[in-house]
Amino acid sequence: MTRIGVLISGSGSNLQSIIDTIKAGKINGEVVVVISNDAVAYGLTRAENSGIRTAVVKHGDYNKRRDFDAELVRILRENRVELVVLAGFMRIIGATLLNAFPDRVINIHPALLPSFPGTDGQAQAFAYGVKLAGCTVHFVDEEVDHGPIIIQAAVPVLSSDSKDDLKSRILSCEHKIFPHAIALYCDGKLRIEDRRVIIAGSDELLLAEESLISCPGLG
Ligand code: GRF
Repeated sequence: MTRIGVLISGSGSNLQSIIDTIKAGKINGEVVVVISNDAVAYGLTRAENSGIRTAVVKHGDYNKRRDFDAELVRILRENRVELVVLAGFMRIIGATLLNAFPDRVINIHPALLPSFPGTDGQAQAFAYGVKLAGCTVHFVDEEVDHGPIIIQAAVPVLSSDSKDDLKSRILSCEHKIFPHAIALYCDGKLRIEDRRVIIAGSDELLLAEESLISCPGLG
């Protein structure tokens, strides 16, 4: 069982999808701690409702990012975390944390990287007028939204869409591919070669998981 630490800043719907997938027995791991940089993040309540340990580390309490990261590392180590999952964590992770967990930090980004990195990827894609948007799960490196890509899912942008329609269509996909990527990691099926992530048995897996290539919203 891989010991997972999840970092959040907000609603925690991705955290919930991970918790639910674990409860369904589809991830060979357990969430042992949830850390938020915001004391009122609803994700903390979700964690508590599932009996998961929580911690709050307010970034405003630290002058240097290094010290903020060091406190995160301390809590993650205290909980013997093996995989760090950034699920809507709105702070940039630095070398202190990445060096403590090499190739063991993954993130979900609500756009098809390398397009639209940074904040509000969905709004950027909507404003640009792309016809396909989506989301990306990737390993984290020192550049923002840049590390090796594990899984991506595409969704259409419809003419009738508002920005919020697109956001929720992307979010539904996030809730599918993020737990799936975590399951692959926990099963030891991910290998990084240069910046390509090789997934063992990927063809069967991805084709079998029809949801990964379907278009929520189009039925
Ligand atoms: C998601 O869209 C995620 O991709 C982005 O922040 C949002 C977090 O949503 N990084 P939630 O807190 O998981 O509901």
